Amino acid sequence: MLPRNPMSYPAPFFAALHRGTAGDLDHYVRVCQGAGSVLELGCGYGRVVTALAAPGRVVVGVERDPQLLAMARQAVQALPKAHQAGVSLCEGDMRTVSLHRGFDRVLIPFGGLYCLLTDDDVDAALANAVRHLAPGGQVALDVYRADAFHRESEPDDVPDDAHEPLCRVEVDGVDYEVLERSTWDKPRQRIDVSYLYVDDHGRAVEGTIAQRYLLEPQLRAALSRAGLRIVELTDRFDPDRPERDSDGSDDALMVVRAEREVGR
Ligand SMILES: C[S@@+](CC[C@H](N)C(=O)[O-])C[C@H]1O[C@@H](n2cnc3c(N)ncnc32)[C@H](O)[C@@H]1O
Repeated sequence: MLPRNPMSYPAPFFAALHRGTAGDLDHYVRVCQGAGSVLELGCGYGRVVTALAAPGRVVVGVERDPQLLAMARQAVQALPKAHQAGVSLCEGDMRTVSLHRGFDRVLIPFGGLYCLLTDDDVDAALANAVRHLAPGGQVALDVYRADAFHRESEPDDVPDDAHEPLCRVEVDGVDYEVLERSTWDKPRQRIDVSYLYVDDHGRAVEGTIAQRYLLEPQLRAALSRAGLRIVELTDRFDPDRPERDSDGSDDALMVVRAEREVGR
């Protein structure tokens, strides 16, 4: 049975750990250069919205989780007044939200598309992104690239019986060890991750994220079904960095810009 909500995660704990991918904010700032209006679908705690807010620019963030949205509101309030002015945040579902206007850029950053657990949900979100494009606008998104992992790994390679130490984070002044456990369902392309935050007294808080990854041909097909033509699909944020990192990890991405197909 698929969970109805792909994330069950206390917002401050999510925000302490999920800080984006190296280079992504610079990338979205570049992508939005010259854009007077930007919509972010799945804006979380406002990481990207606040980076893109600028005097004279309309920036709208849509987020389904009210706790994360409240954090985003706080982050926006901390911006200089001239940057805040054009920003609005709205609780909603990226598959169905209707803002009754078009945007020069519609963004789904940092794997937001993988929170959609069926083809129908992916199609609904991309179709809605297209519905919110102003003439000449672009959709931009990034997701992790799972093609090689999916092709070369077997379910036994991803043990799911124990939480493994990941890192330490501080949440509201308390230090936590973070442990991670992933459950991989290869045929359904699902990787569901549980993060356990344990403080020095052994008290634990859990956050879970359900994800369904897409292989590159599936992502291309979904974009095409939505009536989008790919302008660029790369494996990195920084076009000036020609080589992959030696371990490949930071660059295991699909970074996409797409525009409405002519005639659609
Ligand atoms: C991986 S996070 C990315 C957050 C943010 N874009 C960033 O880059 O920091 C995905 C976000 O999408 C939100 N989300 C998932 N499904 C959603 C949906 N159907 N509609 C709106 N938001 C959704 C999640 O709550 C989460 O905040």
